[in-house]
Amino acid sequence: MNEQNMNQTPCIAVAIDGPAGAGKSTIARRVAQELGFLYVDTGAIYRTVGYHMSLMGIGPKDKDGIERCIDDVNIEIVYQDGVQHMILNGQDVTELIRTPEMSMMASGVSAQPCVRAYLLDMQRQLARTHNVVMDGRDIGTVVLPHAQVKVYLTASAEVRADRRWKELTAKGEQVRFEDVYTDVVKRDEQDMNRKIAPLKCADDAELLDCSYLTVDQVVAEVKEIIRRKTAQ
Ligand code: DC
Repeated sequence: MNEQNMNQTPCIAVAIDGPAGAGKSTIARRVAQELGFLYVDTGAIYRTVGYHMSLMGIGPKDKDGIERCIDDVNIEIVYQDGVQHMILNGQDVTELIRTPEMSMMASGVSAQPCVRAYLLDMQRQLARTHNVVMDGRDIGTVVLPHAQVKVYLTASAEVRADRRWKELTAKGEQVRFEDVYTDVVKRDEQDMNRKIAPLKCADDAELLDCSYLTVDQVVAEVKEIIRRKTAQ
């Protein structure tokens, strides 16, 4: 991590929220890299909690089980060559959390209040000490409501499922488009309708539909929003 916290200027926070598969991580990572900010993928943190619960044989709706085990989840976020690695109780689980099962598991456990409370300070602490581009579902609404820049990145469910399917098949996973599409729609429904910190566009966020935009176009658009908002 860098040493931005050495000076006294307040850190800049860029919050990028949106539904699964909208391209948040690709865009956030690129923008962070180009601006020299820290990229924080908060979905990876929820995935890591989900992975721990599945190791313990605890289901995503088992409130009591999750509450019992949450204090045993020791998460460290380590950056190697600018890549965020998730360390769970000493083990690097960065790759293990990138499966369709862990996507659903993360979406499930993230609806539990004890999980959200447990992770809130970790996320805020990163933004207190670094200029960050943080992506997730509730960054602009709950985690960093005072972020200088908020973007809500979205795309149609078909486009998002297609991107996810290509990503997974490129990694050699045997998945059917229909199943990926069903998962995307189900995750939207879970993430948008949960009681606590549901996915929604913050009132002061810029809405960006990237269904028909290239990555370069979206990156340029987000950088322009940052320029405009931080120049005020
Ligand atoms: O961004 P992702 O697909 O890796 O996120 C996995 C799940 O984690 C997502 O379906 C909902 C949850 N999540 C959340 O509730 N809040 C966040 N800030 C980030 C992710």
